[in-house]
Amino acid sequence: MPAGEHSIVVVANRLPVDITLDADGAVDWSRSPGGLVTALAPVMRQHEGAWVGWAGSPDLSLDPFEADGIRVWPVTLSEQEIADYYEGFSNGTLWPLYHDVIVPPEYHRKWWNAYVAVNRRFAAAAAEAVAEGGTVWVHDYQLQLVPSVLRMLRPDVRIGFFNHIPFPPVEIFSQLPWRRQVVEGLLGADLIGFQRSSDASNFMRAVRRLTPLTTKGRAVTVGARWSRPERRVRAGVFPISIDTAAFDELAQSEPVQQRAVEIRQELGSPDVLLLGVDRLDYTKGIRHRLKAFGELLADGRAHPPETTLVQIASPSRERVDQYRQLRDEIEVTVGRINGDYGVLGKPAVHYMHHSYPAEEMAALYLAADVMLVTSLRDGMNLVAKEYIAARRDLGGVLVLSEFTGAADELGQALLINPHDIDGTKTAIMRAIGMEPRERRRRMRALRRRVVEHDVQRWAEDFLSALSTGRSEA
Ligand code: G6P
Repeated sequence: MPAGEHSIVVVANRLPVDITLDADGAVDWSRSPGGLVTALAPVMRQHEGAWVGWAGSPDLSLDPFEADGIRVWPVTLSEQEIADYYEGFSNGTLWPLYHDVIVPPEYHRKWWNAYVAVNRRFAAAAAEAVAEGGTVWVHDYQLQLVPSVLRMLRPDVRIGFFNHIPFPPVEIFSQLPWRRQVVEGLLGADLIGFQRSSDASNFMRAVRRLTPLTTKGRAVTVGARWSRPERRVRAGVFPISIDTAAFDELAQSEPVQQRAVEIRQELGSPDVLLLGVDRLDYTKGIRHRLKAFGELLADGRAHPPETTLVQIASPSRERVDQYRQLRDEIEVTVGRINGDYGVLGKPAVHYMHHSYPAEEMAALYLAADVMLVTSLRDGMNLVAKEYIAARRDLGGVLVLSEFTGAADELGQALLINPHDIDGTKTAIMRAIGMEPRERRRRMRALRRRVVEHDVQRWAEDFLSALSTGRSEA
């Protein structure tokens, strides 16, 4: 296959831009907010990189174009492929399988076939874009077969893969009828990055259990049957982060500071403001959080409206059944709590099913006394890191589930097991009553970590490990 022109190519299910077509069918785009774009934009601009991803709507077929110094390379998916590859295999099979089977994964051969076909298409686009001897960095569970397909098409390139979500224990992973193909797909890469060391260990156990390959520590030797000459594939740990400085600066800006004050006033100036911010996903433990909060009100340990919860649940994967069901359950629960404990004009829970711009998020973080992150399983959880980045004032307490990747780094948060409702209630009360000195001490330590380990450092660490052969951040 002839080489392309880009020395670095990123491959991710989503593009770094939102595409719209105007009345004449001309392409219009706006930068989509997100840590990955921010982290990679400087590298991409410096090396005139290309970004391969799904154009975002069905049957949208577009030529590559330039956006903000990045070559955007759209991949077309049909309506049926969106249903089978994206909603089906990615979000109805892999997502629940990789998140502790919180809901039962579904296994359908039709979904798998679409996943294979779409992964091949992404790999072919990357193969066309990348220059001789260049680097391709593939992202996340939607694209686990891309590394091996790409290696067949372009044995000259260096391939990195980063899994943004957890990698499950082999005892769970083994349910997948196509488990061997997925492991072999990933092993097409030179370096496979994970969020936590437990994810990397789980992956290595899967390699040992499901393939005949030789492993040593976190390295796998892929023998002559697969590739010639022998190759070494490394697994490594690279916890992702946020653009800390940018978030910190945003939170310090005058309009955001003012908005934070306004938010508290709009909420009726409560004594204690609790905050939850999540994609509306069953992995986030929103029901467990509401249960704990509702019980605190029922027990009379917290009193609305002096103590109020704001829950932002941004719409997500709304055509997948389990997400629809979850939305109904959450909304019934919120309605019940407000019915029982709200007063006129002052609900106990302010529930919002929208997304907000970064400015509003930063203002909410600043306004909140306690941030609740209660995920049942979460690759990292960047909301926890954003909350910390926003709190230069050293105020605020983070209650954080131990089942998040973030918990490995953020030991000064109040760590909880969200399944333990009593334990969660105790942690919330402890957060509410925490002395300012202790708040400041904990927040200072948390900020040190998030300032030193930002998303730019994450990208540099991964790319330098990919080019030099190290496997740790
Ligand atoms: C998680 C995944 C990402 C995904 C995002 C939003 O963070 O790791 O790969 O893009 O959720 O989900 P969506 O299905 O809307 O892309």
